Amino acid sequence: MKDIKQYIEENKQRLLDELFALLRIPSISADSAYAGDVAKAAEFVAESMRSAGADKVEVCKTPGHPIVYGEKIIDPKLPTVLVYGHYDVQPADPINLWTTPPFEPIIKKTELHPEGAIFARGSADDKGQFYMHVKAFEYMIKNNALPCNIKMMIEGEEEVGSSNLTNFCIANKERLKADVVVISDTSMIANDCPSIDTGLRGLSYVEVEVTGPNRDLHSGVYGGAVANPINILAKMIASMHDENNHITIPGFYDKVAELNAQERAELNKAPFEIDAYKKDLEIADVWGEKGYTVLERTGIRPTLDVNGIWGGYTGEGAKTVLPSKAFAKISMRLVPNQVSDEITALFKKHFESIAPAGVKVEVRPHHGGEPVVTPTDSVAYQAAAKALETTFGKKPIPTRGGGSIPIVAMFEKELGLKSVLMGFGLDSDALHSPNEHYGIVNYFKGIETIPYFFKYYSELNK
Ligand code: BES
Ligand code: MN
Ligand code: MN
Repeated sequence: MKDIKQYIEENKQRLLDELFALLRIPSISADSAYAGDVAKAAEFVAESMRSAGADKVEVCKTPGHPIVYGEKIIDPKLPTVLVYGHYDVQPADPINLWTTPPFEPIIKKTELHPEGAIFARGSADDKGQFYMHVKAFEYMIKNNALPCNIKMMIEGEEEVGSSNLTNFCIANKERLKADVVVISDTSMIANDCPSIDTGLRGLSYVEVEVTGPNRDLHSGVYGGAVANPINILAKMIASMHDENNHITIPGFYDKVAELNAQERAELNKAPFEIDAYKKDLEIADVWGEKGYTVLERTGIRPTLDVNGIWGGYTGEGAKTVLPSKAFAKISMRLVPNQVSDEITALFKKHFESIAPAGVKVEVRPHHGGEPVVTPTDSVAYQAAAKALETTFGKKPIPTRGGGSIPIVAMFEKELGLKSVLMGFGLDSDALHSPNEHYGIVNYFKGIETIPYFFKYYSELNK
């Protein structure tokens, strides 16, 4: 398939311009002020599918943001690949930490991307990555190189938990009938070291509210005699890890699938340079659960993290106040075979049990998601591995992704479909952070690799 390289070469500028146009739409799903832009992005995606040659393209309304669907059925007897991705993005804040505006894409060089990276919110997560599939599809249609059927489903609510996608899938089982799901929404180890994620962590997410006295008090008049909810919350949070950084919630580890020594050794074979890792983050040391390596801590171990904490006076100067309330958002990353709702319930029970009598606590669950492990012995995995080997000149290494894509477990449960996580970003691309970027090499390599995946997948299926 020499021509894909040539196709990219000849269309380079257009392939960038089109992605830039998509990146200029601030499709922030979490913020209702941007609902119009999310809708605009959906229309853009639909139009890009249509002009690439997809049939039955539809912007499907949901109670939240729309799902864009398109397909090309060349022969119902042939296998069908379902491509999933998301066109919504994370909020851009803290906006003042961006060196260039988040919705004005621009190419800049970085140490890991000497040939340039596209800086924009959503460039790597996931606009730049799902758009590679649309463009690879465009190539295959134009060059009569689509060897099997394809269905594309690009949603607008991944970053807020995909809450409407499950119902959509259940209601559209026939339309979504496929043999495998392919997703480019994860990372690889490095540009000279391709990898395929073979698992994702699940998520349990709660918001907690700790209430002390019925109103803010003078911290001199009452301080020392009345529980300060911020002091209490800090103590409660601190108590949820022991001296070995194990999580102290009773029952939390009960269902955790432990890997045997051989599996752990296999996982730790992936190239990982701790000094480069520390240097990149400007930290003197790493931190985490005793007895596990960094790769294990992010790949196969569950975690508990505070994502935000607030309360009391945070304005200019000093105000002496004993606040009435304290809040925190706490997430737990889950691993096989933990169950999101069960972990949330364990958290709630524990959190309520450790609260002293001087405060009232409330635990409000947010969206969650289940962990997954994807097969490495499937035809689709082998096709992806072969495709990556073709374009990178190296066999990809199977790794575990630390992030979550809750819908992947749902595809398995509701549609009976396994996924292949063929991501092309890097962990250091600043996903969800200021200055998110996506290497142009990564973008073009993705477009180049995907048609090979289709080719090998069809061949291996014969
Ligand atoms: N694409 C990411 C997940 C990801 C990133 C997996 C890198 C593996 C490597 C996805 O968009 C994401 O951010 N998911 C959220 C969960 C969601 C429920 C908000 C996450 O992982 O925090
Ligand atoms: Mn994503
Ligand atoms: Mn994300």
